[in-house]
Amino acid sequence: MNSSPEDSLVVRDLKVSFQEKDGMLQVLENVCFSLHKNAFACLIGPSGSGKSTLLRTLAGLIPYESGSIEFPEIHGRKPRTGLVFQKANLMPWRTLAENIALPLELANTPREEIDQKVNEMVELTGLQGFETSWPHELSGGMAQRVAIARSLVQDPDILFLDEPFGSLDELTRERMSEELLRIWDEKRKTILMVTHSISEAVFLADRVLVLSGFPQGIVLDLPIDLPRPRDEHLRFISEFVQAAATLHEHLKI
Ligand SMILES: Nc1ncnc2c1ncn2[C@@H]1O[C@H](COP(=O)(O)OP(=O)(O)OP(=O)(O)O)[C@@H](O)[C@H]1O
Ligand SMILES: [Mg+2]
Repeated sequence: MNSSPEDSLVVRDLKVSFQEKDGMLQVLENVCFSLHKNAFACLIGPSGSGKSTLLRTLAGLIPYESGSIEFPEIHGRKPRTGLVFQKANLMPWRTLAENIALPLELANTPREEIDQKVNEMVELTGLQGFETSWPHELSGGMAQRVAIARSLVQDPDILFLDEPFGSLDELTRERMSEELLRIWDEKRKTILMVTHSISEAVFLADRVLVLSGFPQGIVLDLPIDLPRPRDEHLRFISEFVQAAATLHEHLKI
């Protein structure tokens, strides 16, 4: 696989193993794919197939054994990456605004710039009026939006999302999906998002990657050619249903 100037991530033959008491647990092998700049890709696969491991490896939190991960430069610099975990992991002793500000404080950003960026993120994620709320006062969906805002505040070029809506009810999930599409459209990031929901993947993504357990790697890379902007009625058209059926078939392998 050759990288092109349009790529924002190229992964080749990635292999990841964990050291266990009685030997190595091999989790990922033969993982190859690339993402175009501004792509919205979803990653699905059975539980335990290594989706979280893949995201953490791409985000630099887990070392890999062999293969390569390449982030082509954007405007002559290395792209910034952000990772949102399944659980919001907010700091309970910090207000909503202080949680969003944390990465900027750690980077010694001047106060004025922090306030301006936090305000922008609060607006983007629709959290106005809750800036001084404490994490325990927020709903699950709001806490998740704070986690997304905290990641976006560093202006990542590539955003990795690990089941960000996993703990939400169906309708909140759908609303959050639409919100995420709006943010992606406005900010033009490259997004790779893990989800267990086939319909969520088809609704959001340009492409859906199916990860099968070791040693298979990515067993399907399905383009989703539905028009944008996407709205609710798309969920019932035949192309949508067909894509969902194809993914369903490949998940059974
Ligand atoms: N830090 C770790 N140390 C040892 N083994 C690990 C570690 N993290 C994950 N694993 C193992 O790697 C395999 C893949 O785990 P991973 O969490 O990546 O799966 P997943 O596809 O995200 O599953 P789920 O859909 O349930 O979230 C599992 O067998 C898991 O036990
Ligand atoms: Mg996982």
